[in-house]
Amino acid sequence: MKKALITGVTGQDGSFLTEQLIERGYEVHGLLRRSSNINTHRIYHLFQNKKIYNKKLFLHYGDLTDSICIQNLLRKIVPDAVYNLAAQSHVKISFEIPEITAQVDAIGTLKIMESIINLGMMGKTKLYQASTSELYGKVHEIPQSETTPFYPRSPYAISKQYAFWIIKNYREAYNMFAVNGILFNHESERRGFNFVTRKITLGLSAIKHQVQTHLVLGNLDAKRDWGYAPEYTEAMIRMMECEKPDDFVIATGETHTIRSFIEEAASHLDMNISWEGVGQNEIGIDTKTGNTVIRVDPKYYRPTEVDLLVGDPSKAKKELLWEAKTRFKDLVSIMIKHDYDNVKKHSNRLLF
Ligand code: NAP
Ligand code: GDD
Repeated sequence: MKKALITGVTGQDGSFLTEQLIERGYEVHGLLRRSSNINTHRIYHLFQNKKIYNKKLFLHYGDLTDSICIQNLLRKIVPDAVYNLAAQSHVKISFEIPEITAQVDAIGTLKIMESIINLGMMGKTKLYQASTSELYGKVHEIPQSETTPFYPRSPYAISKQYAFWIIKNYREAYNMFAVNGILFNHESERRGFNFVTRKITLGLSAIKHQVQTHLVLGNLDAKRDWGYAPEYTEAMIRMMECEKPDDFVIATGETHTIRSFIEEAASHLDMNISWEGVGQNEIGIDTKTGNTVIRVDPKYYRPTEVDLLVGDPSKAKKELLWEAKTRFKDLVSIMIKHDYDNVKKHSNRLLF
């Protein structure tokens, strides 16, 4: 039985990847951060399954800032594959906590690489690094591909740039099987509450159920290439199954503004958004009720913004036979339907 270690097992991607690797016959080990609160809700269904928990899925307390624990775990598990998904993954928040973002997102990756080398596991253990389209930042070309130069625009993206290059450098220097998946934004019904898509689907659902009156957002003009997360974790596995390690862009090739995400999500709730004003004075009115449901607050603006992301996934299509199936409208539909029911079920509890 092959063994995989997933850092970030409790995150959006970690939860989908765990399911897919178990399905493929892997024994999965997950790194679990100690928390004063329950942080396993995304893998709770696996945790509860007696055929899976402690049989196919094992959880270990640990932290990417703790070199000793990383080395001990690798020594104990001797995994065939490490998927390094753990990160302080919020771009805006990285401006407020830049040092821990660098410690986890940059140096954490280095710690895993060095541990694999120190333990003499280079010939055995493959490594997947969760790289990101944020590396393109102030983009040099449209669409962005594996050859597009980087111009990172946040402490998060700069930390991820270090991780990208240390993976590439160690691959060349030590002949390690280490790959970068340059993943564009991918969302789902398991997305964290403070990323824009989920904030919109939860917020509009709460307005529809009269739990809140309006939703406050930041820059509505930014454009993102949004895909469906479980398809992206499938791409990670395919990269690790390649004969040779390489880096791949994973994207849909389509881009949309935050404003169009709102309009599309609202249409599923029988709301019709009309826009008035500009910049921080812009508001979104539901023409069906006349209520102002969207407001802008500059506190959600970023000191430096990434205005436009759209990926060119042709290398992944050719070499991994991977293609995004869930397109923009389907993605919005999955998320808003889920959150409409979700808010209805929990409307007596504070969600935000
Ligand atoms: P996420 O939902 O924010 O999950 C992040 C995971 O990292 C969580 O399990 C979190 O644990 C864990 N973590 C954070 N700090 C840690 C630390 N110091 N030690 C150990 N674990 C730590 O992120 P995601 O959306 O699944 O993304 C997965 C990875 O892909 C991240 O590296 C992200 O930067 C990258 N990425 C994401 C996207 C996207 O659109 N989703 C695109 C490109 C790249 P807790 O649950 O305890 O917080
Ligand atoms: N979070 C958030 N909250 N973003 C907002 C808001 C808001 O209220 N209002 C507007 N936005 C805009 C942001 O300014 C940004 O341009 C866009 O919505 C997307 O923001 P996020 O959903 O936070 O995602 P991100 O693109 O910054 O980062 C995500 O994708 C990256 C891949 O490109 C994260 O998952 C990163 O970890 C990942 O690397």
